[in-house]
Amino acid sequence: MAKTEKILIERKEIEKRVVELAGELDERFQGVDLLVVPLLRGGFVFAADLVREMKTRMEIDFLTTSSYEHQEVSTGNVKIFGNLRAQVKDRHVLIIDDIVDSGRTMESVVEYMKSMGPASVTSVVLLDKPSRREVDFHADYAAFTIEDVFIVGFGLDYESHYRNVPYIYTYVDED
Ligand code: IMP
Ligand code: MG
Repeated sequence: MAKTEKILIERKEIEKRVVELAGELDERFQGVDLLVVPLLRGGFVFAADLVREMKTRMEIDFLTTSSYEHQEVSTGNVKIFGNLRAQVKDRHVLIIDDIVDSGRTMESVVEYMKSMGPASVTSVVLLDKPSRREVDFHADYAAFTIEDVFIVGFGLDYESHYRNVPYIYTYVDED
């Protein structure tokens, strides 16, 4: 059956929320030299937009986490790759990702960061799918809460593609 693209969140709507969130984060981190850690690969588009709207002084460093790869369901087995060059100890850390689904990725990354003795760890995600949660993780900031539907665009991929699409969409069956 043929599939058609259905836009769930328009680019303009995302831009508006990004500005709002940046303002909230700036307020929260007033006077702090923040360590911002976007998660690759899905978090890079949202992170790039968010940090450019923020005025807080910050250092940015990256971690890569394993994702769905070639499937649409999470394996529940999270891998964290790469070494941070930045010092984490006693720093305020902001982790940025595309989506909290089962919650396993963010839970693992927060735990990993905490093992390095930061002053605080805060999480911000573009999307939250609370109905899919498998662990007790709650993002501190989420731009949008969505239903249980597989989406792509704005950093999110299907078979490693479509991350560059500047809005969030899903595929629906044509009838
Ligand atoms: P979690 O560990 O189950 O919370 O999943 C987090 C990761 O799964 C995200 O960083 C995404 O890479 C991927 N993911 C979850 N839901 C979707 C989706 O609807 N579309 C594309 N990727 C998704
Ligand atoms: Mg991902």
